[in-house]
Amino acid sequence: MKIAVVGSGYVGLVASACFAELGHEVICVDNDPEKLAALVRGETPIHEQYLPELLARHRGQRLKFSASLPEAVRASSVVFVAVGTPPRETGDADLSYVEAVAREIAQSLNGYKVVVEKSTVPVYTSEWIRRVMQLTGAKAADFDVVSNPEFLREGTAVSDFLYPDRIVIGADSERAAQILQEIYAPLTKGTYYARSAGVIPEPPGAKIPAQLILTSAKSAELIKHASNAFLALKISFINAVANVCEAVDADVEQVALGIGTDSRIGKRFLRAGIGYGGSCFPKDVAAFRSVARECGYDFPMLQEIIRVNDEQRKRFLKKVRTALWTLRGKRLAVLGLAYKGGTDDIRESPALDIIRSLLSEQCSVVAYDPAATERAQQVITGDITYAEDPYQAAVGADALLILTDWEGFAALDLARIKSLLRYPIVIDGRNLYSRETMQKEGLLYVSVGRATVELESSRASALAKE
Ligand code: UDX
Repeated sequence: MKIAVVGSGYVGLVASACFAELGHEVICVDNDPEKLAALVRGETPIHEQYLPELLARHRGQRLKFSASLPEAVRASSVVFVAVGTPPRETGDADLSYVEAVAREIAQSLNGYKVVVEKSTVPVYTSEWIRRVMQLTGAKAADFDVVSNPEFLREGTAVSDFLYPDRIVIGADSERAAQILQEIYAPLTKGTYYARSAGVIPEPPGAKIPAQLILTSAKSAELIKHASNAFLALKISFINAVANVCEAVDADVEQVALGIGTDSRIGKRFLRAGIGYGGSCFPKDVAAFRSVARECGYDFPMLQEIIRVNDEQRKRFLKKVRTALWTLRGKRLAVLGLAYKGGTDDIRESPALDIIRSLLSEQCSVVAYDPAATERAQQVITGDITYAEDPYQAAVGADALLILTDWEGFAALDLARIKSLLRYPIVIDGRNLYSRETMQKEGLLYVSVGRATVELESSRASALAKE
């Protein structure tokens, strides 16, 4: 199948590389000349496992990059639209890029094409795309618009794409639905897995072959917003439960295990912490609320998800204040800048928000992140320096703060950390350590939804052991 993908951002680039991996001929279009030149040179603009390998394998072969949308459209039978839909101040998505692309596609038609929304867009967007294309002169018989939402997570984007929980195709025309099914056939029929076993390792629990869900275009648009809102709801729910745990001295990890083992609830996305960030959840929950309201349904539950998420960052700051008594002039080691582990993305990162607040309280910050430092340097100003590793960050610091769930942060040499810190205090916004471990190490340990490990009790337990 000949495919054009418009937009080489997270979704567009990963989709392009993965479609090529499935055997399709792909042209990835972007109007940013610098970005294109870098892609052609063989650079990978985002930190994403397996993406460099896929790009190296298919670039210049089944995967081409181009600045010309008309040429790409004319050479393809399917056009995926994966341009940005940034939030506007009102919370709803800015669809002006989608509209501009729809217009340009309409002007470039040279036969029947399927136009596919891949970006996360509100319900009714497929209708708007159809309308704009017709207003621009395209004949109704020459195109169909399909919604094919993408559920990939940053950090595991390639695996998520090739081993999806489901593939949703929202099409109101049989012809377009058929074409989309053909594109994904290697995954839904399982031929890709049989032929490429081991190339991109199968993640645990992968569903093979991938499940296909056929819906109307509007249902598919809603599936995307509702999925992200529901996942954000799970996070805010467990964070709210964590706050109750703190009030009554219960342990949120135990509670999460107890409720998550109910298969109707499920264990995933019940990790309490400083809340969600990233380019999707904050934007999509707000956009979903805005769409619902526009369609005549006020959805206050969505506002509550956002409120709990914001509050979580403030509660963490309060914990830092409680642990350190006074903040002015304190030196804080901060582990983590990215909004989650495994990515260099800092968009809407709770870590950056917390760092900014600490800086405004006249703390000095020494931060370490395995991938996101360069990006953070461009946006944070003030009394902040960057360390080469967690241990360098800890030297002489009044406390160590863990703000991102990088795997490496869960396996620190704690004795060494303790010897480097000025005060033996660890404040963990991601619950990466058990209370018992910290108690054994003799650290004052503050986490989320669990009782603080005080130095007193660690001394008491050391004595008990003797
Ligand atoms: C999310 C969706 O998972 C994905 O399906 C969609 O396509 C895009 O948005 P992503 O933003 O990459 O993906 O990250 P995800 O792993 O979902 O985490 C989002 C945020 O929630 C992170 O800040 C993470 O730290 C936080 N989180 C996640 C929690 O705080 N607790 C959890 O239990 C899970």
